[in-house]
Amino acid sequence: MGHGRGTGDRSAFGAGGNPSSAYRPRRLRSTPAMRRLTAETRLHPADLVLPMFVREGLTDAAPIGSMPGVQQHSLDSFRRALAEAAEAGVGGVMLFGVPETRDAEGSQATDPDGILNVATRVAIEEVGDELVVQTDLCLDEFTDHGHCGVLAKDGSVDNDATLERYRDMALAQAEAGSHLLGLSGMMDGQVAVVREALEAEGHRNTAVLAYAAKFASAFYGPFREAVDSQLVGDRRTYQMDNGNRREALREVELDIAEGADIVMVKPAMSYLDVLADVAATSSVPVWAYQISGEYAMIEAAAANGWINREAAIDESVLAIKRAGADAILTYWAVELADRLHATGI
Ligand code: PBG
Repeated sequence: MGHGRGTGDRSAFGAGGNPSSAYRPRRLRSTPAMRRLTAETRLHPADLVLPMFVREGLTDAAPIGSMPGVQQHSLDSFRRALAEAAEAGVGGVMLFGVPETRDAEGSQATDPDGILNVATRVAIEEVGDELVVQTDLCLDEFTDHGHCGVLAKDGSVDNDATLERYRDMALAQAEAGSHLLGLSGMMDGQVAVVREALEAEGHRNTAVLAYAAKFASAFYGPFREAVDSQLVGDRRTYQMDNGNRREALREVELDIAEGADIVMVKPAMSYLDVLADVAATSSVPVWAYQISGEYAMIEAAAANGWINREAAIDESVLAIKRAGADAILTYWAVELADRLHATGI
């Protein structure tokens, strides 16, 4: 330490030498083989998790306008897409259900015949040995008001009443066979309540992925169409303020203390500093979710011919890994896994 480049006799040229001609970082960029050998970050198909939407009552897959290339699946198209994901060698799938009927409590979330629980059983049957089958544990797809929890009389989201719903939802998902519960609702104490219920009911190997640092983001926009969200207003009383970096560490610390097996930062691209902070301090794996709006922006720019689509996708996901994500949820998981295989990983 303390010796700068070319200072005194530590210079490659000795005292008085001209360091500018000796220090050439470009040497390591000079050939594809050299670049490959000196690359600091690599993606692997197993790092990628594919989020999937299954909609009750569909006979064929339906496109999502704001997410070109992503579909709401029927149970049949879902089976085919699961097989494709397993074939591509991704690490897992994250399932979202879109129910036909909604109510204030989100009853379909805890009904064993609710679409998400049905889809989970299908996924376990089809690819349960090859992939980590994960389920979104949140009420927003199932409530008629679109909030992630149940409402108090004054219309606010009632934290502790919601925890009771999450507990029942966790048990329903574990019973359907989910390997990993994605707690995305940002209620205080949700990890503790879910972990305790799983232990009490003998689901000791059902793991918990805590969306620990989830920010109230404009980039969730296209997802609202994907799940036919009924939300009016925003989620700012439970999701985090966009500018809060320190608070993310507090959320992560609490979730780990409550028993989270994995923590998540979400969205990804606008929060890479937060991701790097969490990766530097977390004692459990850290994942990131490249969300719907991040997907839509790149697809839209590419469709206009403004950016190179594949290069932009690759760069965006690599950057999330570089910032510290051990795994990444991305709607490009299968495409990217196929490309990684094709280019030789
Ligand atoms: C909550 C949930 C959301 C997303 C994943 N889980 C919506 C939200 O918090 O508003 C967003 C994912 C995306 O935008 O791709 N169930």
